[in-house]
Amino acid sequence: MNSFGRVFRVQIFGESHGPAVGITLDGVRASIPVAAGDFEPDLARRRPGAAGTTTRVEADVPQFLSGVYNGFTTGAPLTILFSNQNTRSEDYEALRHMPRPGHADFVMQQKWAGFNDPRGGGHTSGRLTTALVAAGVVAKKMIPDLQVHARLTEAGGTTDIEAALQQAIEQQDSIGGIVQCTLSGVPIGLGSPFFDSLESTIAHLVFSIPAIKGIAFGAGFDAARMTGSIHNDAIVDADGTTRTNHAGGINGGVSNGNTIVFDVAVKPTSSTPKAQESWNHQEGKVTPLAVRGRHDLCIALRVPVVVEAVAAIALADAQAVG
Ligand SMILES: Cc1cc2nc3c(=O)[nH]c(=O)nc-3n(C[C@H](O)[C@H](O)[C@H](O)COP(=O)(O)O)c2cc1C
Repeated sequence: MNSFGRVFRVQIFGESHGPAVGITLDGVRASIPVAAGDFEPDLARRRPGAAGTTTRVEADVPQFLSGVYNGFTTGAPLTILFSNQNTRSEDYEALRHMPRPGHADFVMQQKWAGFNDPRGGGHTSGRLTTALVAAGVVAKKMIPDLQVHARLTEAGGTTDIEAALQQAIEQQDSIGGIVQCTLSGVPIGLGSPFFDSLESTIAHLVFSIPAIKGIAFGAGFDAARMTGSIHNDAIVDADGTTRTNHAGGINGGVSNGNTIVFDVAVKPTSSTPKAQESWNHQEGKVTPLAVRGRHDLCIALRVPVVVEAVAAIALADAQAVG
């Protein structure tokens, strides 16, 4: 469904070309200072504008519909809305009969029996991550000692991100990337063994970001190639500080007080300018597909702040659950 959380709960809504996107947050502590300006630094990091990103730029001014009074959270559900003003739905007309390969057009059309809003990807659009970023700003405020930082470590298979972007622009084909996220200042004991392991909770939310295809904590898949004596993180003091961090800050599904580290794989944008083919429902055969519209050539450029947001949401809920 479109909601997440046990105590700190988020419910996301909206469509890319509908009137607005937004999020309702329940379980927000009263008395947290909230002003529109607090959201701008993170929203600006998600906003397009740089080379390799879409030319659809929205103002992203948060409107607080409920849960804020005189600049502080009240404790009531907090609903944050972002209106959509820069839409060009006509670009998506041709896609009514031809689902984009790699996108959610085909599955959503099937799942919602053709009643889905196809404009700009509708409810599956990356536009909804604006709302996730806003929720992340509030979540970060709920855990004041938390320091969360995500950055793009590679794109198009290389750490030379500029060169990868240049090549993508020249070849007019989309590329993916890897985002690394670190969380420090996390108290020991968040998460539970089994179903609510902290890895599960973080991964649950990270996979809610469109275009994410993988996540690995600490040494990740390399752990399978190490011996135990090398993989094990030696504990060097009574606080549980470890010499290495192959576990990525989590043991037994529970935070161990060391920095939580994970890597996220972002796929190349499915709406690539490169010529593709797809099933044409109107003609009843496979035909060439030229994707029009304004698209990110490299989604990964805009994803780090979204990863930070969902990680903060996961920790805020894990902390509230205890
Ligand atoms: C910030 C952001 C921007 C995105 N922009 C685009 C885009 O311009 N074009 C596109 O085809 N997909 C874009 N996506 C990805 C699609 O929303 C996503 O691939 C699609 O919903 C299918 O989901 P899946 O890739 O998780 O299977 C974007 C995702 C994010 C997080």
